[in-house]
Amino acid sequence: MCGIVAYVGERTAYPILIKGLQRLEYRGYDSAGIALLNKGIHVYKCQGKVKDLEKHTNGNAISGTIGMGHTRWATHGEPSDNNAHPHESENGKFIVVHNGIIENYAHLKKELINRGYNFKSETDTEVLANLIENIYLEKKVDAELAVRLALTKVVGAYGLVISCTDEKDQLIAARKGSPLVIGVGDKEYFLASDATPIVEYTDQVIYMNDEEVAIISREKLDMKSIQNDAKVPKIQKVDLSIEEIDKGDYEHFMLKEIYEQPSSIADTYRGRISLDKSKIFLGGITEALPAIAKANRIIIVACGTSWHAGLVGEYLFEEYARIPVEVEYASEFRYRNPVVSADDVVIAISQSGETADTLAAIKMAKEAGATIIGICNVAGSSIPRETHAGVYTHAGPEIGVASTKAFTSQVTVLTMMALLIGKKRLALDEITYSHMVDELTQIPEKIKEILKSEKHIKEIAETYQKASNVLYLGRGCLFPVALEGALKLKEISYIHAEGYPAAEMKHGPIALIDENMPVFVIATKDKSYEKIVSNIQEVKARNGKVIAIVTKGDTVITNMADHVIEVPDCHEALAPLLTVIPLQIISYHIAVLRGCNVDQPRNLAKSVTVE
Ligand code: AGP
Ligand code: GLU
Repeated sequence: MCGIVAYVGERTAYPILIKGLQRLEYRGYDSAGIALLNKGIHVYKCQGKVKDLEKHTNGNAISGTIGMGHTRWATHGEPSDNNAHPHESENGKFIVVHNGIIENYAHLKKELINRGYNFKSETDTEVLANLIENIYLEKKVDAELAVRLALTKVVGAYGLVISCTDEKDQLIAARKGSPLVIGVGDKEYFLASDATPIVEYTDQVIYMNDEEVAIISREKLDMKSIQNDAKVPKIQKVDLSIEEIDKGDYEHFMLKEIYEQPSSIADTYRGRISLDKSKIFLGGITEALPAIAKANRIIIVACGTSWHAGLVGEYLFEEYARIPVEVEYASEFRYRNPVVSADDVVIAISQSGETADTLAAIKMAKEAGATIIGICNVAGSSIPRETHAGVYTHAGPEIGVASTKAFTSQVTVLTMMALLIGKKRLALDEITYSHMVDELTQIPEKIKEILKSEKHIKEIAETYQKASNVLYLGRGCLFPVALEGALKLKEISYIHAEGYPAAEMKHGPIALIDENMPVFVIATKDKSYEKIVSNIQEVKARNGKVIAIVTKGDTVITNMADHVIEVPDCHEALAPLLTVIPLQIISYHIAVLRGCNVDQPRNLAKSVTVE
């Protein structure tokens, strides 16, 4: 949830830390701090964004070639100067930055208070800093052993960078449940929550595993388990370029990522559809295909936008593979006692690959014997490392907190999976299969056509920027698109919005309709078109304002709706990929018109790695 960055080497650490935090700010941004360690100890931290931290350091020529930084998304203790990281232990022996939650912090804090410790903050992280120090001082052990012993007492999730002020030339890193990546340079090492702050310095990285500890100085890197078993670092090349994580000419990452969708969808199926469009290859699930094909049931677990993609997947799998599908909120699935068996296939969908609830849900299903498949966007993230098999979406880094290209890439993968499994189960004839594959490869050009109508969509955004409540309606596989459109508007413009199955309107929500209620209706040509036309008439009869997403050339709804946005014709099962684009664009423009922080909406973070 937060962003961690650290450096040990020969360069001045301050600019590396600040720039790294700026790249990670999308992960959480209610307060920030840095510590410079080897030329005197300098700790600067404050509530607010990284730019506020820079002001706070008031441009001191801050020396030091070892340091750590943190941009926070509070879990324990409100955003404040005191609760910002880094946290120092009471006797100043340890400095800690932490991503995650120490679940048994209250018990540990009580024990430490009984041993005379005082606390300056409300955070769980400060408890860990004092626990490490207490062990270090009482057992008279070195910093690394004190850290490992402390972590054996901790229940919860952590990505940690720790410095001991008696051992100034090293950093200690540890992870369990929250990501940490080590960048390997020439006599220098970088640490970060993901690779984005590292790629401009080195493309050699080590993705730390759970319960691993790294002891890093400029000369060497040792890795071991918390239990002191030696670990061989697995160095791999990260395929991320700096251009991919810059905004380029766009005002916001979100708009850039909306416009990337023709290429990101093409990247998702690149190398996975034969040139003659007759075959689909998903290498990541080849070995699991037999298990998937004979599954009694597919359970999809996800959160937020990824859950909406899962709902589209339900329609696709049941239509083309004829396998029963249940789509579950991961947070609900993991806390009830679901019936899961070895006959089930569980598909986890997650852009970040770090969502705590989704990770926990698949661990539970894995213990029950199910086959676990991942659909993730971040290589090396925690969820793909927990699954039996999976398919990366290859959408490229998604920095904007509001997910856009990840959604369309997830739906693209689900489409390919449903077709591939349907064909393997002989549930899908060759003609339909080939037609769908061909149609899928036409989607990028069709999205480019939709993007040309941004100006028209922006004009509609201007009309409805002051709305207080908005409804989104869709039928069939377009109902999840209604939910996704509502989430986009909610999370970046702070307008209350709800998505409904269009037919559900008459069971209550229609009472909401009046001249102040904009209603987005996703009404492209499909088997339920006549029904959705009736739904639009019901809304208009109550003076509702209708903004309809229609198939290009529609002449019926065009004469009924207050506004119309056209999308090219396509196979109805692929319509989610097209109809979501106008909803992304209109949410973006309404948020900008309302002066909202589109890339870092209030209260949100890009990856929810805490429960
Ligand atoms: C989507 O716009 C939101 N940012 C949020 O709902 C997100 O989809 C959810 O937190 C799941 O994240 P994940 O895909 O990384 O697991
Ligand atoms: N639990 C810690 C805190 O509340 C870390 C939160 C985070 O991951 O940003 O400060």
